[in-house]
Amino acid sequence: MKIKILTLFPNMFEGFLNESIIKRAIDKGVVTIEAIDMRSYSQNKHHHVDDTPCGGGAGMVLACDVVDRAIKANSTDKSYKILMTPQGRCYNQGIALDLAKKEEIVLICGHYEGFDERIRSFVDDEISIGDYVLTGGEIPSMIITDSITRLLDNAIKEESYEGDSFMDGLLEYPQYTRPIEYNGMKVPDVLLSGNHALIKKFRRKESLRRTMKRRPDLIEKANLSKDDLKLMKEIEEEE
Ligand code: ADE
Repeated sequence: MKIKILTLFPNMFEGFLNESIIKRAIDKGVVTIEAIDMRSYSQNKHHHVDDTPCGGGAGMVLACDVVDRAIKANSTDKSYKILMTPQGRCYNQGIALDLAKKEEIVLICGHYEGFDERIRSFVDDEISIGDYVLTGGEIPSMIITDSITRLLDNAIKEESYEGDSFMDGLLEYPQYTRPIEYNGMKVPDVLLSGNHALIKKFRRKESLRRTMKRRPDLIEKANLSKDDLKLMKEIEEEE
């Protein structure tokens, strides 16, 4: 997988690309990730990338010709081009799983107060990471890169993300490690029992309990089995 990030602030990516799982995935050749300075595609004498809004108003607008040249120079027929914008479709694990199947992704980070509307016609998709406005698309592009990279073959062990929240439409079950007792709080006995069937059942039940309480909207959309419905009945009786 190749990920190219078009940005006006490539230095923001230094720490992100040089630590932890992302660095290891790059070193192992699982993914290549490049942060590319869009400013180098400005043909303006002062390397300006923005201009005042047509029709007047405050702020500056990212120019479409600069972004168009940057995209053309950094994409192929295989590239899936995504604009980072709070107006895009809201990101989730399902989208991450779809994107992890692509060969090449180009992420375009908007910045400043806005971008020329015509930039929308250059891309395949528009993604928002939530209903709030950030100063630019750099952090959203890191979030997307991070969530995709950990799903790629050989980035991390499959077991490490199989049970993740959202992978099966539910929140993850609670996890514990030593010490077995801390400040009067004990690890549930079943997790120490060595009985794998019971542990599996406990985890599924707690995953359902947590999702019912915290994210009932997910329960409505989840693919639940007959056993799940039985567990949910038990939970309702217990609560
Ligand atoms: N740029 C600014 N805010 C954003 C958001 N919430 N998602 C994606 N890109 C953005």
